[in-house]
Amino acid sequence: MAATALVLCGQASRNTARADAPRKLEMGAEARIDALLSQMTLEEKIGQLTQQFGGRHQDANPDVAGGVREDLLGAIRAGRIGSVLGAHGAEYTNAIQRAAVEESRLRIPLILGNDVIHGYRTVFPIPLGEAASWDCDLVERTARMAAVEARAAGTHWTFAPMVDITRDPRWGRIAEGSGEDPFLGSAMAAARVRGFQGTSIAAPDAVLACVKHYVAYGGAESGRDYNTVDCSEQRLRELYLPPFHAAVRAGCGSLMSAFNDLNGVPASANRFTLDRILRQEWGFDGFVVSDWNSIGELVQHGYAADAKDAAEKALLAGVDMDMSSFAYREHLSELVEQGSVPESAIDRSVRRVLRAKFALGLFDNPYADPKVEAKVTLCDAHRQLARESAARSMVLLKNEGGLLPLKKDVGSLAVIGPLADNQRDPLGTWAGIGRWEDVVTVLAGIQAAVAEGTRVQHVPGCEIDAEIDGGIDAAVEAARQAEVAVLVIGESESMSGEARCRTTLDLPAAQERLLQAVHATGKPVVVVLLNGRPLSIRWAAEHVPAILEAWHPGVECGHAVADVLFGNVNPGGKLPVTFPRAVGQVPICYNQKNTGRPPSDDRFTSKYLDLPTTPLFPFGHGLSYTTFEFRNLTITPGEIGPAGAVEVSVEVVNTGDRSGDEVVQLYVRDPVARVTRPVRELKGFRRISLKPGEMQRVTFALGPEHLGFYDEHMEYVVEPGAFHIWVGPGSEGGLEGAFIVSDPGAAQPRP
Ligand code: NOJ
Repeated sequence: MAATALVLCGQASRNTARADAPRKLEMGAEARIDALLSQMTLEEKIGQLTQQFGGRHQDANPDVAGGVREDLLGAIRAGRIGSVLGAHGAEYTNAIQRAAVEESRLRIPLILGNDVIHGYRTVFPIPLGEAASWDCDLVERTARMAAVEARAAGTHWTFAPMVDITRDPRWGRIAEGSGEDPFLGSAMAAARVRGFQGTSIAAPDAVLACVKHYVAYGGAESGRDYNTVDCSEQRLRELYLPPFHAAVRAGCGSLMSAFNDLNGVPASANRFTLDRILRQEWGFDGFVVSDWNSIGELVQHGYAADAKDAAEKALLAGVDMDMSSFAYREHLSELVEQGSVPESAIDRSVRRVLRAKFALGLFDNPYADPKVEAKVTLCDAHRQLARESAARSMVLLKNEGGLLPLKKDVGSLAVIGPLADNQRDPLGTWAGIGRWEDVVTVLAGIQAAVAEGTRVQHVPGCEIDAEIDGGIDAAVEAARQAEVAVLVIGESESMSGEARCRTTLDLPAAQERLLQAVHATGKPVVVVLLNGRPLSIRWAAEHVPAILEAWHPGVECGHAVADVLFGNVNPGGKLPVTFPRAVGQVPICYNQKNTGRPPSDDRFTSKYLDLPTTPLFPFGHGLSYTTFEFRNLTITPGEIGPAGAVEVSVEVVNTGDRSGDEVVQLYVRDPVARVTRPVRELKGFRRISLKPGEMQRVTFALGPEHLGFYDEHMEYVVEPGAFHIWVGPGSEGGLEGAFIVSDPGAAQPRP
């Protein structure tokens, strides 16, 4: 409707599931920072803006300070490094820190960073899996425990959360994020920041969070990592930016600039995103680190003539710290001397880095305590949480005839597949310092769960991506002898993650053949998928009665899978990303636009000749061993002004005979707007637990932050007119209602 709309600048990204008050870092210590800055040489200042890899090298002399390379120590002593990445373990990191704190002129501590993405030594499910839990509290708790372990081992700073939204499962890094939706992604981003940083970043068990990769990295063309992104500002603001804003609002202390070209300006030198949006619009006061060599790569992008030009462009755009390209270390002082970069710009970046070091308490307590490290690393409580989070992340995709849960005293089981007795791959990508020997395999989990008399026979059948001589015959034989066949199939950990993109989303051919051969025995087949991305398992979805999506679940893989297979845990996860029927449907997502010719039986509509346009499994899908009914939807009031809010409420009843979890999902559509809107947008969710027969009323508030959009002038507006809503267990169907946003008239913008 073309009427006056309420303009609410900067409101759009307030779409976290819990309304978080911004939690600023306690940055204090300005006077000490002033004093330090006044004593620092230009080289020492640039040192604070330089990050270097400091992991153990094979050629390191083990007699030198616990295996630290002498050249690294020399650079630290000379004040030429402010941060080290890749160093692990209390003793090793202490040896590095000592060079800064006890042997450098100004004794400024290093900030030691690492990729603690889904756990440290205790590896939790990959972030995509955790997002499938739709449980912010759980995600906060796993991030908290990861922080406890990491900090005890000398890590002060994690390069997480990774919050890149993507609609392209070919992109291997889909495993590291929270899927396709900005609302769910924002909720997960904020939860992880809260978990990593804890209630106070000054606490000895907190780590500084670093939200990445800023920005639109998940929009890589062709799903090919590092590839170009060309997107409208509207898409940028509505799809890619919200999780970053949510992380910033949750108090995230640092941010990483991305590798990709964004609309012609690489993200690591993009003043529009790094300065206009991040600093000016959002008021971010933490520091920005580049991605690995992303400053150096400005040259390959064709944006900078050489490393010196790259250093100038990145620093002036707002990248405070250079991860590993050394363009800052090598060229910034010359740039200052020649007047291209004002020293005040360097001072500003140094101040931001020093603030974080003060906030973390590193000036007072720079070292890790090996005793704490020994106590918390992979401790029972962390393992317990790994088991809980893995089980809560699993999604029951299909369960025909109630094949699952299996009885623990089933007479015999054939446990088949290359991932069944596999300790490496369940760890997933970015497994921190996780070790394969810590992993409980699916086979071990099943063996531990079944009754004494149950016969469990294991046959791998094939390798992940190759046949084994006689493998299929052996698997078929085992299936024939068993009451039920459990097939554990999917992807290796090295098939997703950075620089691990695929042009097919099918199961590797050897596994598909194995699956079809076992199914042909006529025995009931349960598929357990371990994978890092949506897979186009079309044949399985059609023929196999039960499919459990377990993702890469981490160290407690086998226990958690068995918990779900045998019904100790009733699965309640939901897909955070659409599963396509075939790779040709990609990019595919639930919150698409309608087009002028939505798919129908008519020939000239938006569709394919060879496949439906609908997904194999939609966003938000997930079954349970019980059933739920949604009823009595109410929306009050039925009409509001653009600044007003409605209350949407629904009753959910467990109509089955088991306790279980449902994720109540609220979707909105603005059907007529001056910028067309998606057919549905998630704007609320809650995971609830209900006993058999139990009912709970779930209520959501829908306000301007949920109802608006960015118009053609990039103003955030709520337009008057009708709004449709759906509340249900997924992104399709659900109870339907509507309300009106009236013409604003006297309505005033919120303060
Ligand atoms: C490159 C990756 O893109 C980034 O996510 C990671 O944090 C850095 N390497 C450091 O390991």
